[in-house]
Amino acid sequence: MTRYVVATTPIDGQKPGTSGLRKKTPVFMQPHYLENFVQAIFTGTGGAEGKTYVLGGDGRYFNDRAAQVILRMAAANGAKKVIVGQNALLSTPAASNLIRRRQTDGGIIMSASHNPGGPTEDFGVKFNTANGGPAPESITEAIFEQTKTLSEYAICEAQDVDLSKLGVTTLFGMEIEVVDPVVDYHLMMEEIFDFEAIRDLFASGFTMRFDAMHAVTGPYAKAILEGSLGAPEGSVVNAVPSPDFGGGHPDPNPIWAKPLMDLMFSCDAPDFGAASDGDGDRNMIVGRNTYVTPSDSLAVLAANATLVPGYKDGLKGVARSMPTSRALDRVAEALDIPCYETPTGWKFFGNLLDAGRATLCGEESAGTGSDHVREKDGLWAVLFWLNVLAVRQQSVAEVMAEHWAKFGRNYYSRHDFEAVDSDAANGLMEALRNRLPNQPGRVVEGMTIEAADEFAYDDPVDGSRSEHQGIRIMFKDGGRIVFRLSGTGTEGATLRVYLEKVETNVAALQDNPQNALSGIIAAADKLAEIRLRTGRDAPDVIT
Ligand code: G6P
Ligand code: ZN
Repeated sequence: MTRYVVATTPIDGQKPGTSGLRKKTPVFMQPHYLENFVQAIFTGTGGAEGKTYVLGGDGRYFNDRAAQVILRMAAANGAKKVIVGQNALLSTPAASNLIRRRQTDGGIIMSASHNPGGPTEDFGVKFNTANGGPAPESITEAIFEQTKTLSEYAICEAQDVDLSKLGVTTLFGMEIEVVDPVVDYHLMMEEIFDFEAIRDLFASGFTMRFDAMHAVTGPYAKAILEGSLGAPEGSVVNAVPSPDFGGGHPDPNPIWAKPLMDLMFSCDAPDFGAASDGDGDRNMIVGRNTYVTPSDSLAVLAANATLVPGYKDGLKGVARSMPTSRALDRVAEALDIPCYETPTGWKFFGNLLDAGRATLCGEESAGTGSDHVREKDGLWAVLFWLNVLAVRQQSVAEVMAEHWAKFGRNYYSRHDFEAVDSDAANGLMEALRNRLPNQPGRVVEGMTIEAADEFAYDDPVDGSRSEHQGIRIMFKDGGRIVFRLSGTGTEGATLRVYLEKVETNVAALQDNPQNALSGIIAAADKLAEIRLRTGRDAPDVIT
């Protein structure tokens, strides 16, 4: 085995976000590209010498090859040890857990989350720090600097490491421990949830379908739901991770998980349905004839947390991203605990969780989690729901109806206008920004505007300030519209319009959120001149 230092020219590395560097797979497969980025991670974080890392990915195309490169580079950079998921697989929450449990110096996760995978689709590499969470901006900034200046990387020449076999091997003096990707995660879930109660629920004939969407949660869901909790075999579908996710988008929402939605709204519907994304951090919850929005799901979990052994002593606080509906705030108020409102992006929860200020957190974009790891966790949310249903002995629809009767219902919907001309989108936001001072007191579609602002966040833990996090229009009756440009879109700009209206009169509750929100939707167009400025008559995606 030989260690090489390879001369290289810097990659035109786009700045890695907190979800790492995401690129088309062929870009990552170019000579030296992955190597440059991995070296930038090692060097940008003070070198790999003597350090221990976790390594795994969501199984997408190039995952297996990239893992071999990263191992050879870790060895050549003097790392002490790498803990790798068998066959280079680890869900994002499982990687976060391993980093924490094994007290490593961090981890490298290979994933592009819910984006499609395959030879012409997406790949990604992300670095998580020792707390198990996504690298903060100071670190991604340091990695980015390295990508621009790097002139060499270190790698050793070696045979592929056999990642199919559990156990310990060495590579150029570095220890490699291949672990079952599921075992530690499974143990953690057993510590949090009442597995006995959920077992009894399945034994009583309760049925479910979990759609793993050909992605990484398949093996986790099979082992935990079918293996340990006794869900009938076949409850977990699309359970084998495939390099191109069966040709689909592994994104658990009513659009990309349509087969599951169709089943749940048919006469063959099981009692409970759920899905997770490519790397296992997002979730979708659906009951028979009942879709639960991520915002409502978060509120229900908070309201029922003490039914779960891991949260039996109550929650220290809760947190949601600003555009997430305020259903959670109503629960927090009733529980008399703090509710934090953060900008969009999981990284903003990290400080609150580390400081013990929040126990549960979530986002409208289908992420829910708690202080058990430092990432959102799809299967955890599913087990939380099962635990609640097992204790309450009610259907999802009954749980939702009681929740709304008690706390009121926050009708909620997100309208996305995709691939909008960037100038038009920025112009729309700028015009809204300029008109903010004139909004209070204005009557739009019969509703009076109470307040209007552009959201900025002062982190209560480290004091940092994040500005321009979305424009909020608040109405007197509790309605709200948020306008925000997506930070993850790839083509032009994506305008997200988050619509919310509160109904506290149980007798007036209705089924269809789009109908309930019609006034708010019309007001959004009036306020932002969406049709005029974007040239679009209707949103591309409604969730
Ligand atoms: C990623 C992050 C989430 C965030 C979402 C926002 O999925 O992991 O934490 O909510 O992006 O995406 P957007 O397109 O709305 O900026
Ligand atoms: Zn994800």
